[in-house]
Order: sequence, then C-alpha cells, then structure tokens
Amino acid sequence: MDIQWYPGHMTKAKRQMQEDIKLIDLIIELVDARCPRSSGNPDIDELGRNKARLVLLNKADLASEEGNRLWAAAYKEKGVSVLTVDSRNKTTLKQINGIISEACKEKIERDRRKGIKNRPIRAMVAGIPNVGKSTFINSYIGRASTKTGNKPGVTKGKQWIRVSKFLELLDTPGILWPKFEDELVGRNLAFVGSVKEEVLNVEELAVLFLDFCKEKYPGVLAERYGVEESLPSPELLVGIGEKRGCLVKNQEVSTEKAAKLIMDEFRSGRLGRMTLELPSE
Ligand code: G4P
Repeated sequence: MDIQWYPGHMTKAKRQMQEDIKLIDLIIELVDARCPRSSGNPDIDELGRNKARLVLLNKADLASEEGNRLWAAAYKEKGVSVLTVDSRNKTTLKQINGIISEACKEKIERDRRKGIKNRPIRAMVAGIPNVGKSTFINSYIGRASTKTGNKPGVTKGKQWIRVSKFLELLDTPGILWPKFEDELVGRNLAFVGSVKEEVLNVEELAVLFLDFCKEKYPGVLAERYGVEESLPSPELLVGIGEKRGCLVKNQEVSTEKAAKLIMDEFRSGRLGRMTLELPSE
C-alpha cells in the first residue's frame, strides 16, 4: 500500500514547531494509544532536546488495557513521564497536574537554585493530525479554568492560556508530521484514520485490517459478524458485506461499503478495544 504525505504541509508545520518550541519549557506530546510508536514522531527527540517531556497515550479507551499497561511501562522505563487518557473524559485527566510537576522537576529545581520563585511552566501540546490535540486542550482547560477562574492572556503575539498559577499553555497545538518510515507505520496510521481517506484504497485497507484481526484478535470477527474466519480476507470482506446488507443496486455486495463499515466499526471501538502494536514488537 502506497501512502502519500504532503511535503508542503510538513515544511510549514516543522518551521512553526521550531519557532514555538523556543518559547516553552514542556512539550505535552499526544500519541494514539492504539499505536504509540507509529503515531509518535522521532524528530521530537531532536526538536525538544533540553525541554521537559510528557507523553499522553490518548484514546486509551479504544486500546486494549494490556497494551496500555505495557506502553506506559515502556515509556517509564525510558525515563519519560507518561499518562493514559481519554481526552473526551475529563476524569481521566485528574492526575495530569501531578505528572506535569514530575516531568518539570528539573526546571523547577533550576529556577529554585537561581532564586526564581513561582515562574509558571510554559507548555505546548503537540501531536500528529487527528490524535486528539484540540479535544485534550478543551477538556483540560475547561476543567482547569473553572477551578482557577483565570482568563486567557496575550503575550507577545502568542496566545497563552493561563491554566493555573503554575502553568501556561500555548493555545495552538504543535502539529507534528507522521513518519511513514516503514510499511507498518503507514498501515497503522491508516487503520486509525490518521491518513486522508482520499489517498487510500479502502478495500485494500480493510483486507489488511481483516488479516490483522484474524492474527491478533482471533474470534472477534466471527463474533461480531457471524463469519468463518478461516476464509481468505478478500472473501471475508464479501461475507461481512452480505451479512450486513452492504449491497449495490443489482443486489450485489459492495466491497467498498463493507470495507467502510468495518473500518468505521474499528475506529469507533465497536469491534472492541484493540492495540495495533506492542513495545516488544
Ligand atoms: P486534533 O486536534 O489532534 O487534530 O484531533 P481532535 O481533537 O480534532 O480529535 C480527533 C477525533 O478524535 C475527534 O473525533 C475526537 O472526538 C476524537 N478523540 C479525541 N480524543 C479522544 C479520546 O481520548 N478517545 C476517543 N475515543 N476519541 C477521541 P471526531 O470529532 O468525531 O472526529 P472523527 O471521529 O469524525 O474523525
């Protein structure tokens, strides 16, 4: 499967990110909990050197609990502060302030040694498109601002949201570009819907997804669609289309409709919680 990205967007996003990063102490990097490696951007290591880092495994509600546990442990082992969250659900963000302090403890200590007291931490949210940056900012600010009663303030042309006495957040998230360095990365990003549909062949994608399900989550397709999983995936696609009445005018199965249905059911969690890649793989 050949996936195209747009170099124009990439260059602009990278330049903006390099500018904004100079202004901050902490990068809050969102990755998709279903595929943290594929949805992360290795360039952030270079861009964010000397900055505190916090990784949020977002959409954790859609990933397997075992996968979430293993990924959180893998980041911690590398010394990276990490939290699993569902950004649409404010209660999962409860622990975030504690984790931010932990991620920034070196900066707080540096300030203390220089005699600087109570300088707020400046942070930005970053991640690839569709990972949930806006959703996170809205949930987090909503919760924090009702608590502190602070209003957004303006500093040197940049909009900073005063989240609390100790944290200011850049109101526009940093857009990172995905790295399609291997086929699996492209596949995973396409599965979760982070690649524009127009550049994909949805039937081809669904066949790959059926292959994945049969191997990693055996029984799920049989249970959801009442199909025989031992069939080759292209036939399985037709079978699911039949079962679900994905038909065109002459009563023939539309594999395109079937493919869209399957991908939609996966992305919305109706096929159950699934993790696409594990740290050990
Ligand atoms: P972005 O700013 O990084 O581009 O992402 P955005 O917040 O727009 O979120 C993209 C989609 O992901 C949204 O769905 C949003 O509701 C969903 N989303 C964000 N965080 C979570 C999460 O933790 N769990 C789940 N389950 N969903 C989350 P949408 O607006 O409905 O778009 P779409 O689903 O139609 O693409």
